[in-house]
Amino acid sequence: MVTVVANDAVLGATVDGLDLAQPLPDAAIETILTALASHGVLRFPNQDLSPAQQKAFACRFGSLEVNVANRNATGEHPEIMILSNMVDAAGKPLGLADAGQDWHTDMSYSATIALANVLFAIKVPHDDHGQPLGDTRFADMIAAYEALPTALKQRLDGVTITHDFNLFWERMRARPGSNRQPLTPEQRAEKPPVSHPAVMVHPVSGAKVLYANPGYAACIDGWEKADSDAVLAFLFRHQLQDAFLYDHHWTEGDLMMWDNIATLHYAVADYGAHQHRMMQRCQVMADQVFAHPRFR
Ligand code: SIN
Repeated sequence: MVTVVANDAVLGATVDGLDLAQPLPDAAIETILTALASHGVLRFPNQDLSPAQQKAFACRFGSLEVNVANRNATGEHPEIMILSNMVDAAGKPLGLADAGQDWHTDMSYSATIALANVLFAIKVPHDDHGQPLGDTRFADMIAAYEALPTALKQRLDGVTITHDFNLFWERMRARPGSNRQPLTPEQRAEKPPVSHPAVMVHPVSGAKVLYANPGYAACIDGWEKADSDAVLAFLFRHQLQDAFLYDHHWTEGDLMMWDNIATLHYAVADYGAHQHRMMQRCQVMADQVFAHPRFR
């Protein structure tokens, strides 16, 4: 039997009773999609997934992105991205070491936005007392929208925001020790800046979502720069209030699936080079859910 048990927090639920390595019936996919839209962040514990099995699960919800920065993609599974601080015997990185280490929403820089990040924990770093490190922190953008002042909700009605992939990339590059190279002209051309509504209607729940994030949101379209900067700065402070936050402490075998329309996230880099972290990621695009919205 499938159970969905909500966390005692603003976001999150644990889904038990499913082996995600096996093909799932349509009813289970609908249950997961509904739970995702209700809870924002889902944990499926005790999973054991090959890249092919993870892809087979993820692609039930939408098409899978091949990330423009996936330099470690294997020929067989380019939709799988390895996020890791580990290196091989020759010292070559096994994955992107600093992925997501600041607040952002995956793929908000893309013309087709993402529905969900599907992240499988192969290796979780621990401190000397056995406590897990490398949490992923989430913020709830339905709660953040609801808590906006009425006058600002009215100002944001019908407004669009430009999102730019290069913004977050350059911010990460500027960090001491970063070995990210500048995006190539081809990568820039593949992901040019795009505009999305500042307030989205979630295609599964129908809830209003504040769709802005400090990682990629560059400006409010058509507004004076000073006004745009001031309102974005307000939104970035507002959306990261403690009341909207939830921290996931990883266990190896966790498959986490989170709503990339209605949440922001942040990979906490509180572990050292000797404390190994390895995650296997798929990005599910929101093409299918926007083509067939669930709410009436
Ligand atoms: C990401 O932003 O996809 C990375 C999240 C994580 O590694 O915790």
